[in-house]
Amino acid sequence: MTRPAVLVARAVFPDVVERLRHHFDVEHNPDDEVWSADELRRRLAGKSGALLTASERIDAALLDAHPRLRVLANMAVGYNNIDVPACTARGVLVTNTPDVLTETTADFGFALMMAAARRIAESEHFLRAGRWTKWRYDMFVGADVHGATLGILGMGRIGQAVARRGALGFGMPVIYHNRSRLPGEVEQPLGARWVDKDTLFRDADHVVLVLPYSPAVHHVVGERELALMKPTATLTNIARGGIVDDAALARALAERRIAAAALDVFEGEPQLHPGLLEVPNVVLTPHIASASVATRRAMATLAADNLIAALTGAAPPTPVNPEVLAPRRD
Ligand code: DGY
Repeated sequence: MTRPAVLVARAVFPDVVERLRHHFDVEHNPDDEVWSADELRRRLAGKSGALLTASERIDAALLDAHPRLRVLANMAVGYNNIDVPACTARGVLVTNTPDVLTETTADFGFALMMAAARRIAESEHFLRAGRWTKWRYDMFVGADVHGATLGILGMGRIGQAVARRGALGFGMPVIYHNRSRLPGEVEQPLGARWVDKDTLFRDADHVVLVLPYSPAVHHVVGERELALMKPTATLTNIARGGIVDDAALARALAERRIAAAALDVFEGEPQLHPGLLEVPNVVLTPHIASASVATRRAMATLAADNLIAALTGAAPPTPVNPEVLAPRRD
């Protein structure tokens, strides 16, 4: 019997690839070459499944070119790189890696927020540049985190994990905005209060963005929202590029209309808006919020679990569009 062929589109832990080789004919990208869309299309030829990251774009045309594809296992909790309705319409299963990265990503979001508030990156650059000659009362004074109001846009699993850190560890009053208000049993232990989006930007001392990307939230943080923020406030983005209008943010930071920002994700990454590189009051990291050794391993393992289950007739642990698994009636 011929074994299904799968593509592992990016470099990943070698033992995870070996595990996949027990089940499938695997084409891998161990050198982590950056493939063009055409190259990805070529490599997907004849494949039944693929292990992807959030960097590989899958659209309807690509799916139509590869009718054998049955499963796309994204090694990410976000899946805005994949046209899920187009997959569902073609019976292609999409899976992601929720839960395993929640606490690690929240740790990083909190660290970024603290770095922005307390000017850690900015002051370190100053020191490394040999500019530290004396102590001064107002040198790199920033904003307190403890006791300050934490505003979370997107109160899903990771948003709630950030809220726990703020409320329980740092005594922060938590306000949040979500499409729907969370049940009392989630809100109460955190003292979290649902507010409308404008109130969130107006009242928070530190805004953290943790909402999933969809075209509906493109530039949901732009000139208008930045203008609502306090001049002493910070903005942290661990969600997705495109949620923030990076050009508007670079201007707001340059003009000190908000105090600081911390960004792990960018519009058009790995390219950055040049304005962000010019302002000192922003902490910039290369999309690494989930990058602890243990969590990246857990993500890769879960993506492989999903791929193996989907192609061997078992139940994939974390499907995004489980409706394609329903037995066909025709
Ligand atoms: C995720 O899991 O969505 C992270 O952003 C990594 O892509």
